[in-house]
Amino acid sequence: MAIIAPSILSADFTTLGQEIKSVEEAGADWIHIDVMDGRFVPNISYGPIIVDACNKVTDLPLDVHLMIEKPDHLIPEFIKAGADLISVHAEACTHLHRTIQLIKGSNVKAGVALNPATSLTGLEWVIEELDFVLIMSVNPGFGGQKFIESSVEKIEQLAGLIEETGSNAIIQVDGGIGLSTIKEVADAGTESFVAGSAIFNTPDYKATITELRNKIGE
Ligand code: DX5
Ligand code: ZN
Repeated sequence: MAIIAPSILSADFTTLGQEIKSVEEAGADWIHIDVMDGRFVPNISYGPIIVDACNKVTDLPLDVHLMIEKPDHLIPEFIKAGADLISVHAEACTHLHRTIQLIKGSNVKAGVALNPATSLTGLEWVIEELDFVLIMSVNPGFGGQKFIESSVEKIEQLAGLIEETGSNAIIQVDGGIGLSTIKEVADAGTESFVAGSAIFNTPDYKATITELRNKIGE
């Protein structure tokens, strides 16, 4: 069953609690929370207090995507705030293996995110430790960007690596996912789909999430 993870980056922050309730009622599986530090990515978003606020309004798993340099010292704060899954960027972690252990040590699911220009090389040494791999299909920092086509081939290759190694990791895709792109990434092996603008910029979240599922035959 496909995991649909609306990214609250495109939600209306004046009514964030209601927005989260609405996507939950519309059939969302996870709530995707994009954390940006203004260094690793050219934008600043929000930190643990927003994760804590989300945790108060929903029982859905909170999927925290850390787009921050050297995240180790902040990971405990996000866990305390209620993160159920945490992804860190391979490009932002000097000791990636240690960072993954730090997340898993608190019984939180661990993911590694890769920017569009980052190859899968290196992932083979940690893939067996991971619960998920996040393939960025836009350059991180902003919602509403155009899907980068080369992500499809990268997802196919990643699916091959997961198969070869017997890893339990699932593939998540993030960036430019909507009605016109979800099918090709699903066919390539994606199980978890992040969508921000494609959900929150539509009037009827339930209709949109249902349509996204229909596109991939669910
Ligand atoms: C981009 C974020 C995404 C973003 C996706 O840096 O990681 O999660 O919210 O937005 P859309 O779905 O609009 O491309
Ligand atoms: Zn994200």
